[in-house]
Formats: sequence, C-alpha cells, structure tokens
Amino acid sequence: MIIYLGILCLVISEELSAQTTPTSNLLAPRTYCGYQHTDDYPRTNNSTSIDEFPWSVQLLYSNDKEIRCSGSLISRRYVLTAAQCLNDLIGVQLGDYNVTSDKDCTKNQYGTECSDPVQYFEIEEKIEHPAYIKIKSAHDIALLRLAKDVMYSEYIRPICLPTSPTEELSKGKQLFTTGWGELGEELNQTEIKKKVETTLLPWEKCDGMPVELSIKESFLCLKEKHALTCHGDGGAPLMSSNRNQWEQVGILVYKTTCGAKKPAIYVKVSHYIMWIIYSLRP
Ligand SMILES: *[C@@H]1O[C@H](CO)[C@@H](O)[C@H](O)[C@H]1NC(C)=O
Ligand SMILES: *[C@@H]1O[C@H](CO)[C@@H](O)[C@H](O)[C@H]1NC(C)=O
Ligand SMILES: *[C@@H]1O[C@H](CO)[C@@H](O)[C@H](O)[C@H]1NC(C)=O
Ligand SMILES: *[C@@H]1O[C@H](CO)[C@@H](O)[C@H](O)[C@H]1NC(C)=O
Repeated sequence: MIIYLGILCLVISEELSAQTTPTSNLLAPRTYCGYQHTDDYPRTNNSTSIDEFPWSVQLLYSNDKEIRCSGSLISRRYVLTAAQCLNDLIGVQLGDYNVTSDKDCTKNQYGTECSDPVQYFEIEEKIEHPAYIKIKSAHDIALLRLAKDVMYSEYIRPICLPTSPTEELSKGKQLFTTGWGELGEELNQTEIKKKVETTLLPWEKCDGMPVELSIKESFLCLKEKHALTCHGDGGAPLMSSNRNQWEQVGILVYKTTCGAKKPAIYVKVSHYIMWIIYSLRP
C-alpha cells in the first residue's frame, strides 16, 4: 500500500513539474538561446549595436515588400509575432541593422564591424492562435514556420522563452522592446533597429484600454522611456535579461497612439508557452 502511494505521488509530482517547467527540444536550447555578443563588451551609449538583439525579425508584405510588423526568432524554424500581423504577410528578413543598406557597418572603439547581408526567408505556415479575436486583442499571438532552417551567426540568433506558464515579471525590472516601426506619429520608419527601454506598470494604468478583460491575466501594461514604438512595431518582442541571457516576456499588440505618455499593451508570452510548444514540429 505504501509503495503504491509512493508511485502515485511520483506520477502526480512528475505531471505537476511537467506542467510548470515545459521543455521542448524544438525550442532553442537554454545553453545558447538569448546570448548576444553585444553584452561581452562595454558600451558608451544607449544606441543599438550592430550585433544587438540578433533575434529581431522584420515582417514583409505582398504589395510593396515593406516592413509593417516585427517579430522574434525562437528557433531555427520559427518566428514569434502577433496574430494581427498575418494578413498579406509573405516573408521575413533576419540579420538587419540599417534598413537603407544591405550590408551594414558600424565604427566602434575597436574599429569597423560589418554584418553579413540580410537574409530573406519565405513562410511555410502561418499559425494563428485558434482563439484570436482581432477586436480587444484577445490571444493576439502567432507563429511563423519558415520554409527552411536558419543558420545562426553573430547577427542571427534565437531568443529564449519563459520556462514556466506562471512566470511573473518583478516590478521595476529593466525591459526592452526592439522593432522596425516608425519613430513616432507622422514620422518615418526607423533606419536603425530600435531599442526601446520599457517599464512594467500596474494593470490599473491600462484601465480603459480596449482589451478583452476576461483574459486580463494574458496581458502586460507597459510604459516606454525615451525611444518609442509605433506603426510597424506590432509583434515586436518585449525582452528581459537575466545575467546576460535574454528572454522574451511579451509581444507588442496595442497602443492608443505612438506618444510616450500612452501605455502599451503586450501579450504575456509565459501565458502562451504551452500553446507555443504544442504548435512546433520538427
Ligand atoms: C544607414 O545606411 C545608409 C546607407 O548606407 C547610411 O547613409 C546611413 O548613414 C546609415 N545610418 C547609420 C545610422 O549608420
Ligand atoms: C555611440 O557609440 C558609438 C561607438 O562608441 C558611436 O559610434 C556612436 O556615434 C555613438 N552614438 C551616439 C548617439 O552618441
Ligand atoms: C522621410 O522619408 C521621406 C521619403 O523617403 C524623405 O524624403 C524624408 O527626408 C524623410 N524624413 C526624415 C526626417 O528623415
Ligand atoms: C539614452 O539614455 C539617456 C539616459 O538614460 C536618455 O536621456 C537618452 O534620451 C537616451 N537616448 C536615447 C536615444 O534613447
């Protein structure tokens, strides 16, 4: 009897731990996801470095091949973005830094560094969250399966995802968003990969935003500091660094206007981690 109970407990605890620490060999392994060379050297200012946020993805559309959404690379085959970004989407670009030039170079205290040319990928499958509803940004999350595997480099690498569906962000944690949208209302698209410092706000600050309140726990409310997100940054990753390993905690889905005074709504990635894992295939 005691042995029987013991086995039962073991089974239950295994099930519980499987639920709280999802793993998948289809996600980028924790041993190398989320690392960027930028963190290995001291920086003199807060502009984006050429090898910073190498998981940043540009989404291109059918009529003009323009970038109208952003996303993140989470494995050799998958990009994470918002479901609102899927219409007319035809492909993605990885490894860009300066949108106006194909091969980008920057000067720093060590000399000139040039990135590899941008890489274009076609999309094999668009996977929209089955419960996505456009109005109120409900479950505004999607995966893109690329037509072929991505080769990683200094400028193209995957970001880590949360390891637990209940993972919570600590208050005051420094967060960043990176995307390719406009620099502000009525302003041009950014030339350089954006780096936006972002702070978590209590949910009350987003009261009145048009989101589906019955799934309030699936959203995050954030404020931006200097640089801003705007049109074209939809689907952009919200990121936090833990001892230089970067993890994606959110996806940008809604802003009333591009102004800094208005909070932004992100979908909480930890809330969808099981859906993400079950949607991936080899
Ligand atoms: C981006 O590339 C263009 C074209 O090569 C160049 O004129 C511009 O200075 C670059 N921008 C930055 C910030 O390096
Ligand atoms: C930031 O630092 C880099 C290298 O140290 C320099 O090339 C660049 O001009 C600086 N940018 C600003 C806005 O000061
Ligand atoms: C915005 O883009 C237009 C068209 O490419 C260009 O003529 C204009 O100079 C740009 N404005 C700024 C502030 O860069
Ligand atoms: C860089 O950070 C400083 C202080 O944190 C801020 O005043 C400045 O506006 C920032 N610059 C940019 C381009 O974000």
